[in-house]
Amino acid sequence: MSALLQMEGVRKTYATGAVAVEALRGIDLSVEEGSFVAIVGPSGSGKSTLMHILGCLDVPTQGRYRLGGEDVGHMSEAELADVRNRRIGFVFQQFNLLPSMTAQRNVELPLMYAGVPRDERAQRARAALERVGLGDRTHHRPGELSGGQQQRVSVARALVTDPTLILADEPTGNLDSASTRDVLGLFHELHDAGRTIVLITHEADVAKEARRVVRIIDGLLTEGEAP
Ligand SMILES: Nc1ncnc2c1ncn2[C@@H]1O[C@H](COP(=O)(O)OP(=O)(O)O)[C@@H](O)[C@H]1O
Ligand SMILES: [Mg+2]
Repeated sequence: MSALLQMEGVRKTYATGAVAVEALRGIDLSVEEGSFVAIVGPSGSGKSTLMHILGCLDVPTQGRYRLGGEDVGHMSEAELADVRNRRIGFVFQQFNLLPSMTAQRNVELPLMYAGVPRDERAQRARAALERVGLGDRTHHRPGELSGGQQQRVSVARALVTDPTLILADEPTGNLDSASTRDVLGLFHELHDAGRTIVLITHEADVAKEARRVVRIIDGLLTEGEAP
């Protein structure tokens, strides 16, 4: 079976001024298509750095990363943007919604970048919002929605392009326990529908939702349960 995501010896060093930070120190990770993986670790352990590379938002300093068999290490900025837009849906802790746009317009954005015509865009965005239980909030702006609702809008935005991979970085970090359950329930639905889910979190009880848990500490991975 071929892996959807495959990292070999991935290192990431940030050179800021005179100090070099080794955020990732040799990551080997293979994620099968259709799996639900949690990456768990304390603050500063390299989770977001790893997520940025998995999501083609950044490239390794050293090592190799393949997504769907394609080596992304040698891609141009435009090629990386294309891979992101076609294959990956992102969910962030801070929701990253545009405040001046309605929920529907926010969800339409990835389709706009993909050149989907206006009518189809609107129809698919409304369907995605219905899917996350917000069919009656399509014309609300983010400021008119609760935190849990805003995160559901961002899940709708992540799934509207029908991506293979959903990458979530601390998606429940700003949510109360009821909204956390809602959002985790959505990830389970997406997983049951065949999506590959990579959920990054520092919360052990959130990580328990996944079939597989990978721990990251000081830029290195270990498989299995928390100590
Ligand atoms: N853009 C950056 N420039 C310099 N150092 C960074 C940058 N991003 C992260 N780091 C450093 O890399 C390490 C890992 O950070 P990060 O991946 O954000 O960890 P986590 O998401 O687990 O909290 C930290 O020491 C952090 O200070
Ligand atoms: Mg982080």
